[in-house]
Amino acid sequence: MNADPSWRRDVPRHPVPGPHNEQVDTESPTLPCLLDQPGIVLTSSGRAAILLGLESLALEPGQRVLVPSYHCPTMVSPVLALGHAHGFYPIDADGRPSLEWLETNAPTDTRVLCVAHFFGLPLDLSDLRAWCQRRNVLMLEDCAHAMFGQSAAAPVGGLGDVVIASLPKFFAAQEGGVLLVRQPLRPISSLHSVSWRRQIKAILDGAEISARYDRLGHWKIWAEPMLKLKRALRGKTPTQVVTTTQVTQFDPAGEYARIDVQECRRAPTRVAKRMATSATRGRVITARQRHYRAMAQALANRAGMHPLFPDLPEQSVPYVFPLWVDEPDKIYQALRTVGVPVSRWDWLWPGVPEMDGDHGKAWSHHVLQLHCHQDMTDQDRNWLIDVLLSYCKS
Ligand SMILES: Cc1ncc(COP(=O)(O)O)c(C=O)c1O
Repeated sequence: MNADPSWRRDVPRHPVPGPHNEQVDTESPTLPCLLDQPGIVLTSSGRAAILLGLESLALEPGQRVLVPSYHCPTMVSPVLALGHAHGFYPIDADGRPSLEWLETNAPTDTRVLCVAHFFGLPLDLSDLRAWCQRRNVLMLEDCAHAMFGQSAAAPVGGLGDVVIASLPKFFAAQEGGVLLVRQPLRPISSLHSVSWRRQIKAILDGAEISARYDRLGHWKIWAEPMLKLKRALRGKTPTQVVTTTQVTQFDPAGEYARIDVQECRRAPTRVAKRMATSATRGRVITARQRHYRAMAQALANRAGMHPLFPDLPEQSVPYVFPLWVDEPDKIYQALRTVGVPVSRWDWLWPGVPEMDGDHGKAWSHHVLQLHCHQDMTDQDRNWLIDVLLSYCKS
């Protein structure tokens, strides 16, 4: 389907930096947040946290890390970068690892089970935790989608031997991750500090995004002169023409799955840390819940699509709204072209096998992840819903 350019709207794909992130909290729902867990380390990204977390478990050569069949390549690349064996397990319709499959099919050399709270909906992992204990397997709890919340069993990040998360998915940080290792078998290596040049660049990059969405507020006093200077300096250096070719096939060695081990060993920038730790949490929680529930209501009972999880649990804060679409290939690119903040994990790591009862492969094709963050307005969200409905009708 061709995109109708008149639909175009500049909706931020991620939370936007600006002083509004630190406003006095008028909303005060309190939910567990990973940032409050004692012993966390802030890293340069979620994938860095996976890499450092795995390192701290001191795996022996040949030991295996199992990853869900539904995944982002950044969940797999750290495993390979460290030279470990990997494998995939199937997921049930509720996104939980299939315990039945694990009981009978998990390879005997499995040492780590990576479990993710997809979309930000906390899973009750107690039976998986018990399985791990019985099998002497360690659990890596991937909370990249779930910074906040709790399941019936525990707060997010409450059960993993290693817990990781990703800052830009919830806060106006341009990078950063969270790592918690409950009983490291090897000390977590100390992280390299960030050069002052990079610290300044990170501040300016954030201010530039903020200015684009008109969220500078009182930052204008310092940000506008700095951005002017940046533009003037940039004007003097010849601009490089970057030609990008549309990548149509997943390349495990390409940019999308890239992992730079040296980058994993550096600390996050100060501004990224600040954006995460000083953010007003009530606003983040209520806006995301409101967008999710509005999407669930508007997109229910429509031909050709259905909300994957129509009911948002009270104690959860979504990263995205997962929508099942019967014929996603017809609309996915068109949605992106008009600016709908949507992603899809359509590029699985090569070698995911067909496994009985697995929902992961179907999700990777059919499930659109619609962003629902705190810096989307209600108008942005309603526009997104209208575009989706109009595209699905035609
Ligand atoms: C479930 C999951 N885990 C880990 C990561 C890696 O996080 P980051 O992008 O911060 O490296 C991602 C990134 O999309 C993810 O979706």
